Amino acid sequence: MKGIVFTEFLEMVESKFGLETVDNIIEQTNLSSEGVYTSVGTYDFNEMVSLITGLSDEVNIPVDDLIYTFGLYLFTGLANAHPEVIKSYNSPLGLLYSIEDHIHVHVKKLYPDAELPTFKILDKTDTSISMIYSSSRGLYRLAHGLIEKAFEHFNGSADITYELIKEDGTEVKFNITQNG
Ligand code: HEM
Repeated sequence: MKGIVFTEFLEMVESKFGLETVDNIIEQTNLSSEGVYTSVGTYDFNEMVSLITGLSDEVNIPVDDLIYTFGLYLFTGLANAHPEVIKSYNSPLGLLYSIEDHIHVHVKKLYPDAELPTFKILDKTDTSISMIYSSSRGLYRLAHGLIEKAFEHFNGSADITYELIKEDGTEVKFNITQNG
C-alpha cells in the first residue's frame, strides 16, 4: 500500500483524535516501519490493518466506520496532492465514471507499484451510476467515503447504497443517485 495512504491516515488520526492517539497506536502496534512513512514509499497492507484495528481499540469506534471516515478524509488529501488528476472533471458522476479508465490509470503512472481496486460500471444515467467495486483488500467502505466526498467536492450530495456480492467485501455493488 502506498505511503500517501499511511501519511494521510496518521494526519487524520492526529486531527480527529490528537497526537497522543497517534503515538499510542504506533507504540501498541508492532510495525516493521515503526510508523515512519514517505508518500512515495510502499508498505505492507497488513500495517494499515494493524493501525486501523489499533485505532478502533483505542477510540472504541468500529473498524468499518473508521475506514469510511478515512475515505472522506483521503479524497481531499489525494485531490490536493494530485490536482492535475481531477481538474478535468466538472461533475462528480463524470469523475466516478472515469476512476477505472482515467484516474487510477494516471495513479498507476505516478506510482507503478500501486495496488488499486477495479470498478466495473453497470449503468450510468444523467443522475445516477451503478458500479461494482472489486479488490482483494475489501476496502469498500473506503470507496464509500471517497465517493461521498467526491460529491461534496462539487458542492453536491448523493444517496449511496451498497450490497455485498461477496461476504468478505471483496466484491461490492454501489448504487449512487445524485441529489437535487
Ligand atoms: C487506492 C477508490 C479517486 C489515488 C484506492 C482504494 C480505493 C480507491 C477503494 C483502496 C485500494 C483497494 O480498495 O484495493 C477510489 C474512488 C475514487 C478514487 C472511489 C473517486 C471517488 C482517486 C484519486 C486519486 C486516487 C482522485 C489520486 C489523485 C489512489 C491511490 C491509492 C488508491 C494513490 C493507493 C494505492 C496503493 O496503496 O497501492 N482508491 N479512488 N484515487 N487510489 Fe483511488
